[in-house]
Amino acid sequence: MRILLTGGTGLIGRALCRHWAAQGHALTVLSRQSPQRVAALCSGAQGIDGLQRLEGQPPLDAVVNLAGAPIADRPWTAGRRQLLWDSRVTATAALVDWLGRQAQRPPVLLSGSAVGWYGDCGERPLDEQSAAGPEDFGAALCRAWEQQALRAEALGLRVVLLRTAPVLAPEGGMLARLRLPFGLGLGGRLGSGTQWMPWIHLDDQVGLIDFALHQPSCQGPLNACAPTPLRNADFTRALARALHRPALLPVPARLLRLALGEMSVLLLGGQRLTPLRALELGYRFRFPMLDPALADLLGPSAASQ
Ligand SMILES: NC(=O)c1ccc[n+]([C@@H]2O[C@H](COP(=O)([O-])OP(=O)(O)OC[C@H]3O[C@@H](n4cnc5c(N)ncnc54)[C@H](OP(=O)(O)O)[C@@H]3O)[C@@H](O)[C@H]2O)c1
Repeated sequence: MRILLTGGTGLIGRALCRHWAAQGHALTVLSRQSPQRVAALCSGAQGIDGLQRLEGQPPLDAVVNLAGAPIADRPWTAGRRQLLWDSRVTATAALVDWLGRQAQRPPVLLSGSAVGWYGDCGERPLDEQSAAGPEDFGAALCRAWEQQALRAEALGLRVVLLRTAPVLAPEGGMLARLRLPFGLGLGGRLGSGTQWMPWIHLDDQVGLIDFALHQPSCQGPLNACAPTPLRNADFTRALARALHRPALLPVPARLLRLALGEMSVLLLGGQRLTPLRALELGYRFRFPMLDPALADLLGPSAASQ
């Protein structure tokens, strides 16, 4: 297949490129980085700096849209909010406009979103049919991002919205951030620790995107999270166990609110989420449970690092 990716140089995109390049697919990555750097990061994929570079090339079989400035790296100042919006909502609008101008369109668009789409829903169990909860900035961002991607349905594309949970990966992402404090024995639950905390192993994130690509009846929202929802305190205990360290230092909610402002909803809010659609369609999770996922990612030597 000929697949175009945006965000192909990111944590999920690089793993996807590895997976698809090994299967012999031809990959093109739209990137702000040089073609040489893209090829090095993305398993030999062709890097392009603009969609006009695709003109005159054979038609695409799929588009995977993952680009976006990192959401949890810095507090949501006005300037940061604009960057987060432009790199997702504005960029997706431009991508769909471009698709609309093509005579031969790919049959499918797999587009990024996040579990933040639901907002902080407290104890309410959630699946893809659930109504959205309160609208913080992250939720508004995801909802606008999805709306832009959904415009491609009117162009005849099958659109899948990847409502992704924090991805657990050997390098980068949430685990990389937690590893140092937890490894030093300075980890602890966030606030009360009762908030629900969806997660997904990188292998399942890649597996699910690949599954969605090949599954014609997969359309609309797709929760990308492990099927065993758990609370922040349980996650904290499991991570401390995997690193053979105590996790005795809870971080007070007030401190997080003070330091992060509205962004603290990412840590103190939660979603009691199940991947109903993936399970209905027959996707089999490689890592449905947290302990084996952490053992796989951190390895038996985690405690000595
Ligand atoms: N990883 C997670 O835990 C997680 C959870 C939920 C949702 N998601 C969503 O899934 C998507 C992929 O996640 P990821 O972790 O792979 O992301 P990532 O590692 O942060 O990479 C995203 C890519 O977006 C592009 N990008 C970064 N800043 C940009 C900017 N200012 N303007 C335009 N493009 C920019 C970069 O591509 P170039 O440098 O090549 O241009 C980068 O490689 C993201 O949109 C993210 O919001 C991720």
